[in-house]
Amino acid sequence: MGLREQDWSALEAKSTTLRIRRVHLFLFYYSLCFLLIPGVLSGFQDAVHITAILGESVVFNCPVEFPADHAVPYVLQWEKKGVEIPIYIWYDSYPTHSGEGYEGRVSRVAPDSHYGLASLNLTNIRETDQGWYECKVVFLNRSPNSHKNGTWFHLDVHAPPRFSVTPDDIIYVNLGDAIILNCQAEGTPKPEILWYKDANPVEPSGTIGIFNDGTELRISNIRHEDIGDYTCIARNGEGQISHTARVIIAGGAVIMVPPTNQTKLEGEKVQFSCEAKALPGNVTVRWTRESTPVKEVAALETRVTIRRDGSLVINPVSADDSGQYQCEVTNGIGDPQSASAYLSVEYPAKVTFTPTVQYLPFRLAGVVQCYIKANPPLQYVTWTKDKRLLEPYQTKDIVIMNNGSLLFTRRDGQPMQRNRVRISGGNITIESLRRTDFGFYQCVASNEVATIVTATQLVVEGTQPHAPYNLSANASEFAVTLTWLPGYSGGPDYKQDYTIWSVPLQYQHYH
Ligand SMILES: *[C@@H]1O[C@H](CO)[C@@H](O)[C@H](O)[C@H]1NC(C)=O
Ligand SMILES: *[C@@H]1O[C@H](CO)[C@@H](O)[C@H](O)[C@H]1NC(C)=O
Ligand SMILES: *[C@@H]1O[C@H](CO)[C@@H](O)[C@H](O)[C@H]1NC(C)=O
Ligand SMILES: *[C@@H]1O[C@H](CO)[C@@H](O)[C@H](O)[C@H]1NC(C)=O
Ligand SMILES: *[C@@H]1O[C@H](CO)[C@@H](O)[C@H](O)[C@H]1NC(C)=O
Ligand SMILES: *[C@@H]1O[C@H](CO)[C@@H](O)[C@H](O)[C@H]1NC(C)=O
Ligand SMILES: *[C@@H]1O[C@H](CO)[C@@H](O)[C@H](O)[C@H]1NC(C)=O
Ligand SMILES: *[C@@H]1O[C@H](CO)[C@@H](O)[C@H](O)[C@H]1NC(C)=O
Repeated sequence: MGLREQDWSALEAKSTTLRIRRVHLFLFYYSLCFLLIPGVLSGFQDAVHITAILGESVVFNCPVEFPADHAVPYVLQWEKKGVEIPIYIWYDSYPTHSGEGYEGRVSRVAPDSHYGLASLNLTNIRETDQGWYECKVVFLNRSPNSHKNGTWFHLDVHAPPRFSVTPDDIIYVNLGDAIILNCQAEGTPKPEILWYKDANPVEPSGTIGIFNDGTELRISNIRHEDIGDYTCIARNGEGQISHTARVIIAGGAVIMVPPTNQTKLEGEKVQFSCEAKALPGNVTVRWTRESTPVKEVAALETRVTIRRDGSLVINPVSADDSGQYQCEVTNGIGDPQSASAYLSVEYPAKVTFTPTVQYLPFRLAGVVQCYIKANPPLQYVTWTKDKRLLEPYQTKDIVIMNNGSLLFTRRDGQPMQRNRVRISGGNITIESLRRTDFGFYQCVASNEVATIVTATQLVVEGTQPHAPYNLSANASEFAVTLTWLPGYSGGPDYKQDYTIWSVPLQYQHYH
């Protein structure tokens, strides 16, 4: 059998590269002009049987028998049964052709090797390479003598077993469950599957069976003694492999390291742990603050992280983060467990607001606010009025409240008491606001972290006007200029009138 025209038209139809088409056209020309003679004389019967291992390489040994032992030009062609186009074509110095799927895997052996000149080296063997191969040498410028088939080779590809399906490494069960362990392997020859439990062959029983060519191990009612390691072994003549699945009784998530109360300074980092143990260990941890998921608390959003180990990190903490934080763990088995802890964020006493003037009604009670917040809470607050310490024992109706504000209490209708300031557990009350309560007040607040001062002017409304002040006179020979600053008018938009009294100056003696 020689080169036939349809081989080449088929080749042309499937070839896309210019390289191959060039070889094809050249050969086609020759196939028309010369009669072709196969140079390898052999039969199907005396085919060579070769067994190769997956991934390895094989050489099909094929000698070239020149007509009359005289070297002439020839085309070497390797065909695979069932494949239309030769898998390998060689002609002189032309680029060789490799069939689809054989690219880079087929080559001639070196001419100086002990293999025949037409031998083919097939590398990186695949399972699909199994089959019949034919070596054909065609002498180009010889007249035919007979139609001889080429040399036939049968390639058998052996593959060690490899798993295509294996059970999970860990299988969580509850007692009484039914499970199926599935173990399938590929390989040539077809591997057999064997099952072991804790290194002993599995004994089929009323509740344990092996099915489907050994690929399935079924346990219908798991008891304590069925818990253990199950190994499936796949083996053929080329090797054996194994896979072990551990069958474990499942358990719900239990918190091992709960979060603990923590006190942090503002700006520091806080981490609350919430470590849980569970079988299976796919625990999800949810953190909430006052029952809102932390990720949904707008104020925390950018500063909060839940770590892989379930711990909650807030970095940096701010004054408003104080509160209760709760973690809840579950692995889908049983009820979720939860634990909580408090975060207390300490910060220096801080002024939250500084009104420059506070108005309070005359003769009524009122609070001069000290707009300060602190954690730990304010330890003590003192007030000064017009730079002098406000002595609570002397002013009976003024109270300094827990939050530092000053409370002026009212004592309507009663005679004014000499002592208007009272102190009780840090509270100072000032009773019945008087005109003289008008002034500049300073609130001096301290906690463990800091001491701060905030100042305000207290204006008592609905009172008599205050006297003008900083009165000065500038006299010249015939005139005098009086200047003063107006005192507090006594209330908003009250009109003030000034009366100037003059007393004639008597001649005086100075000594
Ligand atoms: C040549 O091969 C064909 C099948 O491809 C077979 O039928 C025939 O017997 C073979 N001829 C020889 C001489 O081996
Ligand atoms: C076959 O080809 C492989 C890869 O190129 C090479 O390592 C090996 O030596 C070749 N075998 C022979 C017999 O030439
Ligand atoms: C944590 O703080 C809260 C609230 O302050 C308190 O009720 C609880 O007892 C504290 N827990 C511990 C373990 O100190
Ligand atoms: C954990 O895995 C088990 C079994 O694989 C599943 O039933 C359960 O829903 C999972 N739990 C979570 C919280 O994802
Ligand atoms: C301080 O407490 C008093 C009484 O509870 C309240 O009226 C006042 O608004 C508080 N002041 C501040 C600054 O919180
Ligand atoms: C201080 O005054 C506030 C507000 O009137 C009151 O709630 C608190 O009990 C007082 N504290 C003491 C120790 O008297
Ligand atoms: C009033 O007089 C005092 C003392 O002379 C001076 O320190 C103060 O600045 C004056 N006040 C005004 C508002 O001019
Ligand atoms: C007093 O008046 C004179 C002249 O009018 C002026 O030069 C001087 O600065 C004034 N003094 C004061 C204290 O106003």
